[in-house]
Amino acid sequence: MERKLAPSILSCDFTKLGEQVAETEQAGTQYLHIDVMDGLFVPSISFGMPIIKSLRPKSNLVFDVHLMVENPERYIEEFAACGADIITVHAEATRHLDRALEMIRLCGKKAAVALNPSTPLCVLDHVLDRLDMILLMSVNPGFGGQKYIPCMTDKIRQLRSKLEQEGRHIDIEVDGGINMSTLDQVLEAGANVIVAGSAVFGKGDIAANTRAFLEAFEK
Ligand code: DX5
Ligand code: ZN
Repeated sequence: MERKLAPSILSCDFTKLGEQVAETEQAGTQYLHIDVMDGLFVPSISFGMPIIKSLRPKSNLVFDVHLMVENPERYIEEFAACGADIITVHAEATRHLDRALEMIRLCGKKAAVALNPSTPLCVLDHVLDRLDMILLMSVNPGFGGQKYIPCMTDKIRQLRSKLEQEGRHIDIEVDGGINMSTLDQVLEAGANVIVAGSAVFGKGDIAANTRAFLEAFEK
C-alpha cells in the first residue's frame, strides 16, 4: 500500500498555522491530519469547522479529519461541507457506527473508523465494506506528544494480516507517538498512513522533519 504522511496540526503554533501548513505541504507531505476534540469524548477541546474552512482555500492537501467527538453523526455533513476529504469517527463514540459511515459516504467523502488502544479489532468485522481507512490509536486520544504504546505494533500486524487474508485494500493509519524511533516498527507491521504531530511541528525545521519521514518511507 502506498505510504502517506499526515502531519497533525494539533502541534502547530496557531499564530502561524497557514505558514506551517504551507511548509509541510511544500516539503511533499500528502495528507494533513486535523484533530477535532469536543471535551467529552476526550478531555481536551481543540478546534472545529472555522479552522478547516479557513485552511481549505490555502492548501491542496488531503484533509484527514479525525473526529474525537461524541455522536459524530451530528456533525458529519458540516465537516464534509467545510472541506474534509477523509472523515474518521471513533467506534467508541457512536451507537450507530454503520449509519455514521454511510452518512460519510453519502456526503461523497472517504470513510474511516478509529479505535482506541484498548478497543478490539473485532468491532470492525461488520463494517469493513464501508471503509477506506482504519485508524489505530497508538496513544490514548486527547493530547499530542504522548509516548507510543509498544503493544500497538502487534495490533497493526494483526489487522494488516486480516485485511490481506480477505483481499481488502484498506489503508491503516497509525496515530500517536510516531517519530523517527517508532516509525520503522509501524511501517514494518503494515501501517501505511502515518500521523505525526510533535515530530513534524513540535521542534526543529518543519520542512526537514517532513522530508525525514518521506525519505524513511522509501527505505
Ligand atoms: C491525539 C491526536 C493525535 C496527535 C498526535 O489524540 O489524535 O493526532 O496530534 O500527536 P503526536 O504525533 O505528537 O503523538
Ligand atoms: Zn489524530
